Amino acid sequence: MNKIVIAIDGYSSCGKSTLAKSLARKLGYVFIDSGAMYRAVTLYAIRNSLINGGTPDKDAIIAATCNMQITFRFDPETEKNTTYLNGEDVEEEIRRLEVSEYVSPVSAIREVREAMVRLQQGMGAEKGIVMDGRDIGTVVFPDAELKIFMTADPEIRAQRRFLELQAKGLNINIEEVRKNISQRDFIDQNREESPLRKAADAIVLDNSHLTPQEQLDWAAGKAFEIIERL
Ligand code: DC
Repeated sequence: MNKIVIAIDGYSSCGKSTLAKSLARKLGYVFIDSGAMYRAVTLYAIRNSLINGGTPDKDAIIAATCNMQITFRFDPETEKNTTYLNGEDVEEEIRRLEVSEYVSPVSAIREVREAMVRLQQGMGAEKGIVMDGRDIGTVVFPDAELKIFMTADPEIRAQRRFLELQAKGLNINIEEVRKNISQRDFIDQNREESPLRKAADAIVLDNSHLTPQEQLDWAAGKAFEIIERL
């Protein structure tokens, strides 16, 4: 069967990775969470004091990107995708609120984006990939056969994210989560480099009132329609 590229973009905490992961599993495709790559760069910057007084040291971070090896490993038994930074499992650490606070300004650095986009395009060279992020349908894979742009009510997104972080045992309050989501949406849409935009040929999916299974059925239907036509 012919393989396609599926690009999923959208706002923060819309459940893009949940959909991308389940869709990849259903199709037997590779799943890549491109946000995890920007999070890994941000974690490296935090650990190496490259963020001072809340501002990323752009030149130092650009220089450091060549020291960062970011890879993913999929465990078929647990069905978990794990992010590695220079061989270390950083999956849990990159999801912390401290990383979320700085990831948008770090990912706004042009040279950081160029390095990540190169890696992402390499990962999709053979097709058979579902990648989620902010610029996948516009910049990384402008020729993707299926592009989905996800959105959901901001309050519903904050509630979902809050419950997810709480379930991980993190001590946070919902106000912090609301603030973080709206700040990231603002920076992601207003940065100069590859701002978050719906690609002209993307299909909008508002999942405010959909279950994960309903959104998967919808997206898989779209994917199979395209694959059958090839
Ligand atoms: O998907 P996420 O929330 O884990 O992504 C974290 C941040 O990374 C997000 O606020 C913006 C940035 N990002 C990006 O600029 N481009 C991507 N393709 C993916 C994420």
